[in-house]
Amino acid sequence: MSDAGGVPSPVQEMLDELHTRVRDVDAGEVATYIPALGKADPALFGLALATQDGHVYTAGDADTGFTIQSVSKPFVYALALHDRGLNAVLRRVGVEPTGEGFDALRLEAGTGRPLNPMVNAGAVVTASLVDGDDHGQRFQRIIDGLSAFAGRELRLDHEVLASEERTGDHNRALGYLLRNAGALRGDVNEAVGVYFRQCSIVVTARDLAVMAVTLAAGGVNPVTGRRVVGADTCEHVLAVMATSGTYDFAGEWLLRTGLPAKSGVSGGLVAALPSQLGIGVYSPPLDRRGTSVRAIAACQELSARFGLHLM
Ligand code: DON
Repeated sequence: MSDAGGVPSPVQEMLDELHTRVRDVDAGEVATYIPALGKADPALFGLALATQDGHVYTAGDADTGFTIQSVSKPFVYALALHDRGLNAVLRRVGVEPTGEGFDALRLEAGTGRPLNPMVNAGAVVTASLVDGDDHGQRFQRIIDGLSAFAGRELRLDHEVLASEERTGDHNRALGYLLRNAGALRGDVNEAVGVYFRQCSIVVTARDLAVMAVTLAAGGVNPVTGRRVVGADTCEHVLAVMATSGTYDFAGEWLLRTGLPAKSGVSGGLVAALPSQLGIGVYSPPLDRRGTSVRAIAACQELSARFGLHLM
């Protein structure tokens, strides 16, 4: 349903029709390596599209809450760029695609930096770069910043957080590798803990569309009218989303949709068309590279129908 004013618009009709077709796609598996995520209903499918003039169109389960997981990474990267500046962040986190999965235990040869902020290694360092005197303050900056992107106050899912903390040894191992390489400073558990908490923030597909359009619109949330980050920062974030937002699927994703995007393991996805619109999708079943199967189908169709391919 649209909040654009009651009159069915061609965009709304198109979204409803697309939702009806794509919801029948029956493929993929819900992630279970964080046990609490495994409880998600595979039939859930929310779709939202937000325009630069602040209209939000939605279809299906667009107001169902789920944890943001890796979809948080571009927004925390935006906050780090805003707080530290591009060059300071680049000294600590690279911007090259890895061609590997989200949790690869690989750092850049020579520098020891994580390769980019969209993989876990880069996200842990990125979270340590946002403003704050300690980890508590840095997490507060992150949840306040993501709330400003979404245009409403976001909260944590404590059950998912506890589940992730119980099963997070791979990420802790990454933290120790990072500290050994000089890429991460201070207490590893506290730094990884901020990352666990950022992943456990609850959003909806509607929120993701508003967050994405805020990046597309150069950093001003078009629903609240509030500036969150600068336009240069948004350009940089969108560039890294285009090259690395879907990990070892980033090349094919860009080829098929032409849109910078970020996937997450709970089934969320954001995509953005600069200066135009943001898309938010939620559907838990994932393909083998960790991207929501219905999000791929929906974005590919939206891109083709509306001619959104940037190339
Ligand atoms: O680091 C993890 O295991 C998760 N909290 C987030 C990973 C994630 O969403 C990967 N994306 N597809």
